Amino acid sequence: MSEPTQPTSAAPGYYQRHIFFCLNERTNGEDSCAHHNAQAGFDHCKAQVKAAGLAGTGKVRVNKAGCLDRCAAGPVAVVYPEGTWYTFVDTSDIDEIVESHLKNGQVVERLLVPPELGR
Ligand code: FES
Repeated sequence: MSEPTQPTSAAPGYYQRHIFFCLNERTNGEDSCAHHNAQAGFDHCKAQVKAAGLAGTGKVRVNKAGCLDRCAAGPVAVVYPEGTWYTFVDTSDIDEIVESHLKNGQVVERLLVPPELGR
């Protein structure tokens, strides 16, 4: 299998950063991010990004997502364009992601999803 190729010239992004939260809820008894306060994390992130004046074109967008296939680390959120995967426990973790990464571009190492964790 070959690796995907990178674009040779990157157009300026519509958003500087985009964070997607998995809000998937399984109702068949299997675990999913919705069982680990994913919605609360998403809601808090959205509110904090807006309150910090980071929301909007050329800045930051916070979006819902379905299963991102890294359920074993749930709840998860991923920041693009860096492709940085986070997990979180409470709103203080979200505050740190907003302040450090979304605002200042600094990865929050302690909240990174271990690379081996998938579904
Ligand atoms: S249920 Fe959230 S990554 Fe799969």
